[in-house]
Amino acid sequence: MKIVTIVGARPQFIKAAAISRALRERRQAAGAAATVECIVHTGQHYDRNMSEVFFEEMDIPKPDYNLEIAGGSHGQMTGRMLEAVEAVLLQEKPDWLLIYGDTNSTLAGALAAAKLHIPVAHVEAGLRSFNMRMPEEVNRILADRVSTLLFCPTSTAVRNLQAEGVREGVHDVGDVMYDVSLFYRGLALERSTVLDALQLTEGHYVLATCHRAENTDDPLRLRGIVEALAVIARQVPVVLPLHPRTRKLLAEQGLIGALGAVKVIDPVSFLDMVRLEQSAQAIVTDSGGVQKEAYFFGVPCLTTRDETEWVETVEAGWNRLVGADAATIVGAYAGLQRPAARPLLYGDGHAADRILDLLEQQLRQDVSAVTA
Ligand code: UD1
Ligand code: UDP
Repeated sequence: MKIVTIVGARPQFIKAAAISRALRERRQAAGAAATVECIVHTGQHYDRNMSEVFFEEMDIPKPDYNLEIAGGSHGQMTGRMLEAVEAVLLQEKPDWLLIYGDTNSTLAGALAAAKLHIPVAHVEAGLRSFNMRMPEEVNRILADRVSTLLFCPTSTAVRNLQAEGVREGVHDVGDVMYDVSLFYRGLALERSTVLDALQLTEGHYVLATCHRAENTDDPLRLRGIVEALAVIARQVPVVLPLHPRTRKLLAEQGLIGALGAVKVIDPVSFLDMVRLEQSAQAIVTDSGGVQKEAYFFGVPCLTTRDETEWVETVEAGWNRLVGADAATIVGAYAGLQRPAARPLLYGDGHAADRILDLLEQQLRQDVSAVTA
């Protein structure tokens, strides 16, 4: 079996690490007959600390192709990627195109493969925010629509697809990010020195991230989040590994100074991020991945959005939607609680294996249907 995997943005490298590791283990067991993975990096994220560092630290094979496509409008970026991915697919002729999540790289990959009649397998299918103004919502709905196999991380995602009439090829496999968090939690404790480097004490700091377009591109929302973090930073250290998009917009809007005592740092490697998450008193974020990792590590989370795709974390009481109003965020921080229970919501840590099994199984069925 030959898979072409499309990645381009930070969270996709992290998700791809789970599948690449499972593939490596199978290869070691099966030898030459095993599945071949060809990794295509679109280039969407390109700074060393947004891309290369994950490949190195998480043992992801070096991409076979780097399309070096970044920036521009959504249409430009997606269009250029579509053309370049199509050329790779014509060359590689894979059995499957594997895509992750909901970025422009995801959509470009899905469209290129669908038009060449190459079956698409979507990891993290079925997530919905029900907010069509989010670029990610458009990307994920369209990617799901052309996917043959839809790997859902949660039962909510399965229900979302059912509500859209999509039933065939839908599998609740669990979340590859949960697989990843189980694998790296111990390594982060062992290897990361980030707490010492930032002079942080376990349990006595807040970790924050902010990059979602609806926050960074709305001056009022961005100011609200900045002011809230500055107020919290008067009570407890706040560390903010800053996405390059946000750094640029904060500078443009003259808001860097308004962050006050917040420790602004460059984006960190995955092991450092996991370490920061594990010992935080609380996490304030608009990231999808970070909301879940907060849950995996039992850290209360405030999500600076009006809706979330990860509704189970909210229902379980570990995550609260606080929008972007400073007073609301600060009030919610003051009232944070740690619920007694933290049920398993994202599978059993074997999502990657289940995905590979289903890909192989479906291919066998397709081959026997053709030869019958
Ligand atoms: C993208 C995804 C978003 C995902 C996020 C993960 C889309 C529409 N959005 O958002 O769903 O949550 O990645 O982080 O695909 N930049 C750099 N260096 C980099 C990467 C980005 O300077 O290595 C700056 C550039 O100015 C760039 C801007 O950040 O134009 C935005 O990058 P882009 O990939 O378009 O969107 P993200 O906000 O990263
Ligand atoms: N992350 C990281 N370093 C950072 C910030 C985030 O390794 O400085 C990791 C984080 O642990 C999570 C993933 O990046 O696994 C989330 O990516 P991001 O927030 O960029 O995107 P989203 O999940 O919102 O699409």
